Amino acid sequence: MNLRAAESVPASLLVELDSIVERLMLTQVFTKPQPLEVELGCGDASFLAEYARQNPGRNFIGVERLLGRIQKLDRKGRRAGLANLRGVRIESSYFLQYLLPPNAAAALHIYFPDPWPKKKHRRHRLINEAFPGLARAALAPGGVVYLRTDDADYFGQMTEVFGASQEFQKIETPGELAAVLTDFERDFNAQGTPTLRAAYQLNR
Ligand SMILES: C[S@@+](CC[C@H](N)C(=O)[O-])C[C@H]1O[C@@H](n2cnc3c(N)ncnc32)[C@H](O)[C@@H]1O
Repeated sequence: MNLRAAESVPASLLVELDSIVERLMLTQVFTKPQPLEVELGCGDASFLAEYARQNPGRNFIGVERLLGRIQKLDRKGRRAGLANLRGVRIESSYFLQYLLPPNAAAALHIYFPDPWPKKKHRRHRLINEAFPGLARAALAPGGVVYLRTDDADYFGQMTEVFGASQEFQKIETPGELAAVLTDFERDFNAQGTPTLRAAYQLNR
């Protein structure tokens, strides 16, 4: 174990929000200033804890609305001695719009977001026409949005909204990133359902 990293792991990895109308002070959230990556709807953080372990030179925030799941991020991250991982319990779009400082993230990861398969519920989908604009404001220059889903209809919507944006270009997902599976992905793949994935990089 890296003792130096273990020493700087706080008692809780969950960020206590003093205010939900002021943006996070990232210098107070992390001890080391490093490029930041954010996973929206991180679930039990199976992906994020492993990816943060593999990338100690980057900081990671998992955003999740369910308490039981974000508590798993905390437990997994502390057990692994991850000084570069934090969790925020809040709604994903709100986090992007109001809490993350502008142009702060090198990458956004959105994996297996709730598909809302019924037509009348599709307005609840996180990746909609407004999302590329939210992502653009959150990303640093050259930042990337990584997407995965099992749902072909939602995948069509994802590729359509990003394909329509002049500000993003489609890129390949790096193999070493694709190799780190999420919890839901492992279950879907085990049932024979393949992962649909896409990545989009900011042009500026
Ligand atoms: C289908 S699960 C996928 C979890 C994880 N990304 C994975 O692939 O294993 C979707 C997760 O997103 C969370 N979630 C759904 N909508 C959300 C929202 N608007 N804001 C924050 N979390 C959300 C759910 O609570 C759930 O944990």
